[in-house]
Amino acid sequence: MCGIVGIVGKAPVAERLVDALRRLEYRGYDSAGVATIHDGVMERRRAEGKLFNLEKKLSVERLPGEIGIAHTRWATHGVPNETNAHPHFVEGVAVVHNGIIENFSELRDELLAEGAVFQSQTDTEVVAHLLARYTREGLDHRAAMLAMLNRVSGAYALVVMFADDPQTILCARFGPPLAIGHGKDEMFLGSDAIALAPFTNRITYLVDGDCAVMTARGVSITDYAGKPVSRPMQISQSAALMVDKGNHRHFMEKEIYEQPEIISHALSHYVDFAGGTVKTQGAAIDFAKVRSLAVSACGTAYLAGLIGKYWFERYARLPVEIDVASEFRYREMPLSSDQAALFISQSGETADTLASLRYCKEAGLAIGAIVNVRESTIAREADAVFPILAGPEIGVASTKAFTCQLAVLASLAIQAGRARGTLSEADEKALVRHLIEMPRVMSRVLNLVQPQMESLSRDLSRFKDVLYLGRGTSYPLALEGALKLKEISYIHAEGYAAGELKHGPIALIDENMPVIVIAPHDRFFEKTVSNMQEVAARGGKIIFITDEKGAAASKLPTMATIVLPVVDEVISPMIFALPIQLLAYHTAVFMGTDVDQPRNLAKSVTVE
Ligand code: AGP
Repeated sequence: MCGIVGIVGKAPVAERLVDALRRLEYRGYDSAGVATIHDGVMERRRAEGKLFNLEKKLSVERLPGEIGIAHTRWATHGVPNETNAHPHFVEGVAVVHNGIIENFSELRDELLAEGAVFQSQTDTEVVAHLLARYTREGLDHRAAMLAMLNRVSGAYALVVMFADDPQTILCARFGPPLAIGHGKDEMFLGSDAIALAPFTNRITYLVDGDCAVMTARGVSITDYAGKPVSRPMQISQSAALMVDKGNHRHFMEKEIYEQPEIISHALSHYVDFAGGTVKTQGAAIDFAKVRSLAVSACGTAYLAGLIGKYWFERYARLPVEIDVASEFRYREMPLSSDQAALFISQSGETADTLASLRYCKEAGLAIGAIVNVRESTIAREADAVFPILAGPEIGVASTKAFTCQLAVLASLAIQAGRARGTLSEADEKALVRHLIEMPRVMSRVLNLVQPQMESLSRDLSRFKDVLYLGRGTSYPLALEGALKLKEISYIHAEGYAAGELKHGPIALIDENMPVIVIAPHDRFFEKTVSNMQEVAARGGKIIFITDEKGAAASKLPTMATIVLPVVDEVISPMIFALPIQLLAYHTAVFMGTDVDQPRNLAKSVTVE
């Protein structure tokens, strides 16, 4: 993830900006830069690689000025070099950016047609050109900012300076976080409160759709229509912590809400945003040649693998044999060296998963590992490592790791489909376009369903047993929803294939059994609705998680209906994961359990 800092100060800022970037190094980056305004002149220094290179440049070419912005870049569009490093300058406008401008190609073509000259391969530069255009048309800086924000689409944190206004920094957030720090006659901004800890602990967090104008005297915040909004200032505790809860009560809540930003970071490793294709990964596994895939994991990682099975078989026609790791190696499954094996593990240390990896390695299979910790044991023993780049996941209940595992599995299934000739280039581009939409759609869904899931959790907490149902890739999601609820709220919950309802679970249905039905309007929808009718006919309480088309198609009475945007099947598991994560989280908060460290559970099960 990129890191952003800014200071409107009363003393030179360049060194303080670089120090603040250092506190954001944990986010990962491959180039950095800083810009200041001094005596009406806006200048920048940028460098490829680590901050040391930028500091070396600054020691030789000093950068005066008491206002500035700085950035560590994780390359999404364009190679990690100095030309693509932020800040980007266009006609007296400086921009730094974290996230993805989804419609950058269309905007770039429009700007090129007007004669704009681009210096970089980045999506960010279209923002600077748009601001320069609106300024040329006579808009003031705030109006130019709002005009630009109403043109760009995607998930982003944007920070802007204008050379002719050395008192002001403008910023906006839709997805990746931005925190405003209140100093004494100085103001600060950063990607999180950790960056600002040396300057202040008085923090205001922007929310999606906020546009802020910051001077040394304070900050004024509006929505994108220019209507003033107020955001509370709070005292951050993050000075003591290297990992910051931000403005959340628990790490789990923070990790749920940072998924839009995190997923764009993961995608940038697997997707060529400019070309709209997947980047080929893991040469050790030749998907064109393998006869089948063996997949093994535990818990939520296993459920991600179960969803991945649907994708590998559908998009690549590649048979997948999957099992939980504790059963996998004791089944004495026939294995041969013309197969490959994939092991999924957030920690990369789960004992059962590691033992299954070693079992497959002995059988001569090519081994792939989808992990969050690159230096973990499972990663070290694999032939190909597929990092999920989710950053530290502190909450024991896995949330952002799950959706990142899914993003990686979807990318690999598309790669396998192309390698096996079962997906055309057009098919690939269509699927990748949906992957690229994810950060924006996730931001929208989180804001959309949060209030409803919080109020619904109060009702759900009254029950002792809950049933989750789903078909297709919503079936593993039903299992994941049940796992999330039971592991943090301690309410007994069970996930089932909706088609299995009549083969037993229907005996449980009465008014004391809420049934959570996960059903986007896909090819299984009608069949799932008939299962809902069977539940309703027996007095079961239905919580219906669907999309706009599904809500319009079913008139069944429900305890609640959660309506999400219509999305393609290749991203519906990641999108529909959000309400089930929030429902489990808020139910646990309402029950008063230890959300981040639920009883009896460990973050990594390193014993069998
Ligand atoms: C998920 O919410 C649980 N904390 C647990 O099931 C976890 O997914 C499982 O223990 C596997 O852990 P790993 O991904 O680190 O291997």
